[in-house]
Amino acid sequence: MHSSVTELFDALWRDYLDLTPSALKIHKLLGKGEAILNDHVAFRTFNHPKVNLDKLAAHFLALGYEQKGEYHFKAKKLYARHYEHQTDRQAPKVFISELLLEQCSHGLQAIVAGMLDQVDERLSGQTGFLYSGAPWKVSHQDYKTLLEESEYAAWLAAYGYRANHFTVSVNELSGFDTLQEVNSTLKDAGYRLNTSGGEIKGSPEVLLEQSSTMADTAIVEFSDGKAELPSCFYEFALRYAKPDGSLYTGFVAASADKIFESTNVG
Ligand code: NI
Repeated sequence: MHSSVTELFDALWRDYLDLTPSALKIHKLLGKGEAILNDHVAFRTFNHPKVNLDKLAAHFLALGYEQKGEYHFKAKKLYARHYEHQTDRQAPKVFISELLLEQCSHGLQAIVAGMLDQVDERLSGQTGFLYSGAPWKVSHQDYKTLLEESEYAAWLAAYGYRANHFTVSVNELSGFDTLQEVNSTLKDAGYRLNTSGGEIKGSPEVLLEQSSTMADTAIVEFSDGKAELPSCFYEFALRYAKPDGSLYTGFVAASADKIFESTNVG
């Protein structure tokens, strides 16, 4: 396990930048050289005992995080929880989702079972598990079969364990008051935003607005050759105050549902 929250997120950020080079350019564009606070970092997994949501969460619980909200995405067959640090308000929130395999087709289950057979029982307990990438070999054909049924499963097969996205806290970003301003700056610089459900997901009424870039691409090595695929994306979140004056810290399932589509192909 990592000795500090900073150490873990630094390692996650380095791995993420390898697959998402545009994130560093956007980081500079928005931060103008200043530090940027992360609202949250998100992970994907399967609900299999070797690698399920709880196995990922254990790394954060060990660093002082606690479980907060839970979310259901029926159409995508996903379950998710978010975690917050108990004392460090600057620590990014963590959003972990898992694919509910028993709700998927037998074909998908068979491919994923073949992947999970290659995973050592002890993998999830290793210090670097959360940025270790794919612990399995999968063929490009199996990737394409997964993609037909679940973009989520296909992405996970290709990229494995690592941050799916980092998220800029727009509340803490100097020089920007609205998410519209952030989006305009990104589009002016030539970045493509995820428009599924509109460029801005959520609203002041639900206390959270989010937008995201479409994922970068990376070369993935399959067991039978290489292919260029969507990798990871960068997200932007603006939170609003609850009636008690403190910022809302949860997530909005309807918005997160659309954010998942930032790794769609094409
Ligand atoms: Ni997110």
